[in-house]
Amino acid sequence: MKRLPPLPTPPRRQWFRRRLLAWYRANGRSLPWRDTDDPYHILVSEVMLQQTQVDRVLPKYHEWLKRFPSLEALANAAEDDVVQTWRPLGYNIRPRRLQAIAREAVANYGGALPGDEETLLSFKGIGRYTAGAVMSFAFGKRAAILDTNVARVLYRVFVGKGDPKGHAMINRLWEISEAVLPHKHVFDFNQALMDLGATVCPARKPQCEACPMRRGCKSAPQFLKLKTGSR
Ligand code: ADE
Repeated sequence: MKRLPPLPTPPRRQWFRRRLLAWYRANGRSLPWRDTDDPYHILVSEVMLQQTQVDRVLPKYHEWLKRFPSLEALANAAEDDVVQTWRPLGYNIRPRRLQAIAREAVANYGGALPGDEETLLSFKGIGRYTAGAVMSFAFGKRAAILDTNVARVLYRVFVGKGDPKGHAMINRLWEISEAVLPHKHVFDFNQALMDLGATVCPARKPQCEACPMRRGCKSAPQFLKLKTGSR
């Protein structure tokens, strides 16, 4: 078996945290789910954002919360209504999943989402990413996240070579996401990881010149060289 990349050293973790948080304070996007710590609102936004771009999610997020303002309202709604309200985001399983989560919260947890990761993970429809997002954004807990954007950022900065999508690598990237997570400012840090991935470090044409990590990034030299080479 190939050797896994090492976890970043404590000084590298510190470097990454400081630079990411400073960058986010100056460049982070202002989004409605960043002004709330309501677990239900966070859940709705994260499930919508799993497969849909921010600009398409924005109007639907507001409409959804107006129509189903609480877990209880969602649990009691007609399934047809739930699916129809979701419809423009794609005909898929996500609205049913959200409603199943709401029903479970109402049936077993007094209509609230529980604030511990293990219990959240026991819900059908809540995976590791969603649990980490709810724990860090709604409950302020030190919980890591890893979606495609975050995996790409961490892979590029800390790994740079090897198969980015292999099972062992994904597990290692989860460990890196846990290792770099600060003890304070977890909310901002995790939101910042997503913003860096969505804006400066997208899959195609990363903007290394604008990136706070360019000096310590394992992939920046090769991207920057490609750019100068193509002039
Ligand atoms: N994609 C997934 N979660 C997100 C969030 N909280 N903000 C922006 N983009 C996201």
